[in-house]
Amino acid sequence: MAVRIGDVAPDFTADTSQGKINFHEWMGDGWAILFSHPKDYTPVCTTELGRVAKLKGEFDKRGVKVFALSVDKVADHKGWINDINETQHTTVDYPIIGDPDRKIANLYDMIHPNAIDNMTVRSVFIIGPDKKLKLTLTYPASTGRNFNEILRVIDSLQLTAKYSLATPADWTPGQDCIIATSVKDEEIPAKFPKGYKAVKPYLRTTPQPNL
Ligand code: BEZ
Repeated sequence: MAVRIGDVAPDFTADTSQGKINFHEWMGDGWAILFSHPKDYTPVCTTELGRVAKLKGEFDKRGVKVFALSVDKVADHKGWINDINETQHTTVDYPIIGDPDRKIANLYDMIHPNAIDNMTVRSVFIIGPDKKLKLTLTYPASTGRNFNEILRVIDSLQLTAKYSLATPADWTPGQDCIIATSVKDEEIPAKFPKGYKAVKPYLRTTPQPNL
C-alpha cells in the first residue's frame, strides 16, 4: 500500500546502527526525515549518507531527527559507516535501520520492483510532530538527492505549521511568503506585523516573519 501525504507515518520497531528504536517514540514531539538507500557499500548512497551527516547541525536547528534505512543488516551498516566517515570526512551520528527482511521497506512502499529488483528506491519522507507525512519523494537509484532541497521544504513546512504561510515557486529562506487563503484580510495586521502586499485578492505576500 502506498503511503501518502496526510497519512499517519506507519510506526515500527527496528534494529538500527544505534540499537533497537521504536519510530514514533524516538520522534517524540519533533519532526523527522526517513530516507532509504538501495544497498550498503554503493557509491551514490555513500555520498548521500555523508552529506546528511555534514548537515546534521541544520536538521538539529530545525528540530528534525534523521533516520536512514538500507535493506542490509545492521552488522553490514557498521562497516559501511566506517567507510562513509573515512571517504566523506564526516561522522555519521544518526541511526541507520537494518531491514534485511524488507519489512519497513514494504510498509513504506520503498520497493519498486520494476525499477530495481528487491532493493529500496531512494525515498524521502518528512514527518511532522503529529506523526503525519508532510512530504514523500522518490528518486531513481542513480541520482543522489539534493538535501538542500529537503531543508528548504522543511523550512516551508514549518512556516506553514507556525504561521499559516505557504511559499512560492523556487522560494528560498529570506524571500517573501504567501499568506494562506484561510487568513482573512482583517486578520493580517495582527498576524503579520511586517506588512503585506495584495497582488490579487487571492495572492497576498508578506516578509518571512521568523527572521
Ligand atoms: C548507488 O548508491 O550508487 C547505487 C545503488 C543501487 C543502484 C545504483 C547505484
